[in-house]
Amino acid sequence: MVENLLSKIADLKKEKRAVILAHYYCNPEVQAVADFLGDSLALSVKAQSVDADVILFAGVNFMAETAKVLCPDKRVLIPRPDAGCSLAESCDAKDFAEFKKRYPGHKVVSYVNTTVGVKALTDICCTSSNALQVVNSIPEDQPIIFAPDRNLGSYIQKLTGRDNIVLWDGACLVHEEFSLEGLKALKEAHPAAKVVVHPECKAALVEEADFVGSTAAILTYCDQSEAEEFIVVTEAGILAEMEKRMPQKKFIPAPTADAACRCNECKEMKKVTLENIISTLENLSPEVLIDEPTRKAAERAILNMVEIK
Ligand code: 13P
Ligand code: SF4
Repeated sequence: MVENLLSKIADLKKEKRAVILAHYYCNPEVQAVADFLGDSLALSVKAQSVDADVILFAGVNFMAETAKVLCPDKRVLIPRPDAGCSLAESCDAKDFAEFKKRYPGHKVVSYVNTTVGVKALTDICCTSSNALQVVNSIPEDQPIIFAPDRNLGSYIQKLTGRDNIVLWDGACLVHEEFSLEGLKALKEAHPAAKVVVHPECKAALVEEADFVGSTAAILTYCDQSEAEEFIVVTEAGILAEMEKRMPQKKFIPAPTADAACRCNECKEMKKVTLENIISTLENLSPEVLIDEPTRKAAERAILNMVEIK
């Protein structure tokens, strides 16, 4: 059955000259059909250079929007346009425009987890991979608005020691769910394990980390580390790639406050399935469309980021 779906997707990719880009938080079977699997930064960079007529984005809607901003001449498809991101949704473009007015003279750095409308109000985007480099590229005496993630923002404030960064008060509901007590108990039970934490988590969890980084940076750290056990404090979808790349190592997902709720899974990312990938490729729809003035403004902010790397 799954084999039939996989071979159907392979045929459709050829027929439509399509590539599939997917984030590490997608379902494992979706990750398996991706031509390119990556974190938010790698996916943005890759979108610019794919040789295809069609990009199918397996992820949440801000990711597909980013691909469309960078590739206006390609057809960008998203199997579930309703797959949203709590972090992007915590920053409404109209409210953000009002917020900006309160801080004249500030440069705006925003995480790629934003709507295209917020990107259009941004000077330079960043991801969790390059937020530090992006902020460090701005002169020290230049005040900054950092949006929308208060956790990533306060982590960057701490790393840079800058007191001229104003934070928007947003967060990812998945990364905010991890339990500090649960993590401490897991550390006691596995004293040799290294703790890897995504910077979208609360500061108290970040402080428990041996390594803090984006999903791609966490994968590289685990690969290069001599440790054999890791406690993983980020969305659980990444475990599929960890186990595939490092089958000899052990990865333990960190618990959330309510262990039964599977809150360490981003339900929005899991909306993409093999079945909806097939129907999207067959119909070449749903497609991401963005009005040109908004796209152009957002493009500048993303390109400013990509140029820094
Ligand atoms: P990265 O892909 O930058 O690690 O971000 C994780 C995330 O939450 C994506 O939505
Ligand atoms: Fe958004 Fe959080 Fe899901 Fe990433 S894990 S897509 S930040 S809700």
